[in-house]
Amino acid sequence: MKIFTIKKNLQQHLQQIKASDKTIGFVPTMGALHQGHLSLIEQAQQNNDEIVCSIFVNPSQFNDPKDLEKYPRTIEADTKLLEQAKCDVLFNPPVNEIYDDNEQWHLNIGEMESLLEGKSRPGHYQGVTQVVYKLFNIVQPDTAFFGQKDYQQFLIISKMVEALKLPVKLVMCPIMRETDGLAMSSRNVHLSADDRQHALVLSRTLNWVKNNFDSAHIPQLKKEAELNVRNEPGVELDYFEIADGNTLHPADQNTKNIIALVAAKVGKTRLIDNVLLVHRP
Ligand code: PAF
Repeated sequence: MKIFTIKKNLQQHLQQIKASDKTIGFVPTMGALHQGHLSLIEQAQQNNDEIVCSIFVNPSQFNDPKDLEKYPRTIEADTKLLEQAKCDVLFNPPVNEIYDDNEQWHLNIGEMESLLEGKSRPGHYQGVTQVVYKLFNIVQPDTAFFGQKDYQQFLIISKMVEALKLPVKLVMCPIMRETDGLAMSSRNVHLSADDRQHALVLSRTLNWVKNNFDSAHIPQLKKEAELNVRNEPGVELDYFEIADGNTLHPADQNTKNIIALVAAKVGKTRLIDNVLLVHRP
């Protein structure tokens, strides 16, 4: 696997790849890699010649400096995992390769920026879109792969790609779960043994909503789901929403695509999870 920290060097390498008519599949990450990330690499390998994974803990998407500081950084283990997964290129730039000093700009990504995750983490999606825009410009991938766990992130990046007419295809890959249902996340390493048990309420409640979706009304399901999460010790619910999968506004029974999304603090760790409920063409 080739490792680049300087964007110019990465670009030189990728120019040669493109010149030989090969396609580039891109998996942007913040590191602390787990099976979820590796599934994105696997998916990328199915239809692309050269796979680029970036590891960059992006400061501009953290609205809480403490969260940025304690975000897990495991570059040696990550590099090994990527080697084993036969990833072709790792791009692991320092912050000053991506951002100029005091760089400030704003992308119009519409109202979704301030819904759900955006409401709880002001500025988060500005940071995400800024860095993804920059990474797309550097890597110029044919296809980029993101996980469904960050569903809202996927929607917002899709909007950005559409609005700016960026020449990249986006693919959303399914959530990878531990055997007991917990959605894989780099943040899971922060969970204590007790937190780890309590965290299961999230996937359990999402499943319960999925299993009861056809026999109950949405407001009732939402109310019971909220209560269920709130009743779990050590868990502080942020939101449980049954939403339109395109707009993230609350869904009704006629909405074509419906998704249930949850965010909660488990101990000191904020977790998110979701499940698709209805997909009508
Ligand atoms: O999903 C993530 O890991 C990050 O938000 C991303 C897309 C790599 C941007 O920093």
